[in-house]
Amino acid sequence: MKDAVVSMKHITKEFSGVKVLKDVNLNIYKGSVMALVGENGAGKSTLMKILTGVYLKTEGEIYLNNKPVNFTDTRSSQNAGIAFIHQELNLVRDLSIGENIFIGREPVSGNGRILWNKIYENSKYWLNKIGLKEDPRELVRNLSVGKQQLIEIAKALSLDAKIIIMDEPTGALTPAESEKLFSVIKDLKNNGKSIIYISHRLQEIFQICDDVTILRDGELIDERPIEELNEDKIIEMMVGRKLNEQYPRIETTVGKEILKVEHLSNQFVKDISFELRQKETLGVAGLMGSFRTELMRTIYGIYPYTGKIYLDGSKTEIRSPKDALNKGIAYVTEDRKNNGIIGGMNVMENITLSALKKFRGPLGWINNDKEKSSADKYIKDMSIKTSGINQLLKYLSGGNQQKVSIAKNLITEPKILILDEPTRGVDVGARKEIYNLINKFKSEGMSIIVISSDIPEILGICDRIIVMHEGGISGSLEQKDADQETIMTLAVGKDVHNNE
Ligand SMILES: Nc1ncnc2c1ncn2[C@@H]1O[C@H](COP(=O)(O)OP(=O)(O)OP(=O)(O)O)[C@@H](O)[C@H]1O
Ligand SMILES: [Mg+2]
Repeated sequence: MKDAVVSMKHITKEFSGVKVLKDVNLNIYKGSVMALVGENGAGKSTLMKILTGVYLKTEGEIYLNNKPVNFTDTRSSQNAGIAFIHQELNLVRDLSIGENIFIGREPVSGNGRILWNKIYENSKYWLNKIGLKEDPRELVRNLSVGKQQLIEIAKALSLDAKIIIMDEPTGALTPAESEKLFSVIKDLKNNGKSIIYISHRLQEIFQICDDVTILRDGELIDERPIEELNEDKIIEMMVGRKLNEQYPRIETTVGKEILKVEHLSNQFVKDISFELRQKETLGVAGLMGSFRTELMRTIYGIYPYTGKIYLDGSKTEIRSPKDALNKGIAYVTEDRKNNGIIGGMNVMENITLSALKKFRGPLGWINNDKEKSSADKYIKDMSIKTSGINQLLKYLSGGNQQKVSIAKNLITEPKILILDEPTRGVDVGARKEIYNLINKFKSEGMSIIVISSDIPEILGICDRIIVMHEGGISGSLEQKDADQETIMTLAVGKDVHNNE
């Protein structure tokens, strides 16, 4: 028998009468990495919130080193040596990196003064450990989402936790950052620490985990050593059925040119020219920091630009997101927290908010039945896991919130739909639903732009691919001429061996 440092037994959790965890067991072993996998809404984050005292369990027992424990707040689980790196980042954006790392446990001098130098020196040490060269005095808000994720990890390391929970840590990391994280995880393991690793990226699980616990719909399916599993088996256990063909791209005959961009430049991008046709899915590949998002935000009217934009053959200017929406361009941002979905509003309100005029009758009143059935349709089409249209958005799992933010944009029936990292944090089954939707909208005449850091995904679903490097376009490829290596070569700006 392996030595379990934590064992959770018969855990059940109800939210207002709805059971989201049913009799679940979970073990965490010493010096080893336990993967926790399951579809969006399976209960992974909830189980970890119970372990760390964010939520109280309805039933069950938790043992830490064979002693029963029951944490009722995060402070006490932290004091017991458990660090939790949340899926939705928990940093204070307007504080510095150092302040965030030492928040609530600032070192003080004999007379009660905060020792800022010590905070920044220590922070520097932990940043160094995870390969970050940032100044600890830098404000968190100025960092990319990926870097913020790494700061959370530095913070967990600085807490000297024995058990570290990582809830989708690589979602926003570049490939190089992820590799760095994996080597940190290996070090931690070698030092006898235990890790719970939640991810939808199954390749990673085979790279770093020792065991896998699989949840489905709040129930434990199995716990197995990684050697006994392969990707297909895990998927089958997660979704309860076999998934065929992951990327269901369909061929359409592309139509007329719908968008043309000529010599677009601003503080982020330089001399960008490309076009997009009707019934076409255009992929935008590139490394994190290649200004793909900034390019899309420019086209969406957020940043001023020089150069020309043509819509449907006529020259136009896009000066604000409202302007863009009116002209038929919708943009689903990569950053869920800041993309206009609102935690305190219910699922229906979030979906229909930007398209309320569709539901107005002749007197200007909202036709509630229409609004409701439209929201219901998106929930059904996209398999959004919610107890109903009235559930508050903040109570949906991370992946399901992502689907709502896509639905919210689809409902405006745009001509051009821009999706920025649409499947980040989305499980395999739901990913396929998103691909199917992209195909469906494409065949109905929409034009789609997909930014993705997942190259197999870009290759799998796009008809044409442009690759960005340092704010410019370094190449444009037809799907049939594209492969992983060519895209990577273009993404790093030619020299494949010098991409750091
Ligand atoms: N505070 C809450 N109130 C009501 N329901 C909740 C609450 N927190 C979570 N849930 C529900 O519990 C279920 C499990 O959610 P959880 O966030 O644990 O899923 P997950 O496995 O982490 O999914 P993902 O991969 O999308 O992050 C979901 O149906 C969710 O809507
Ligand atoms: Mg989760």
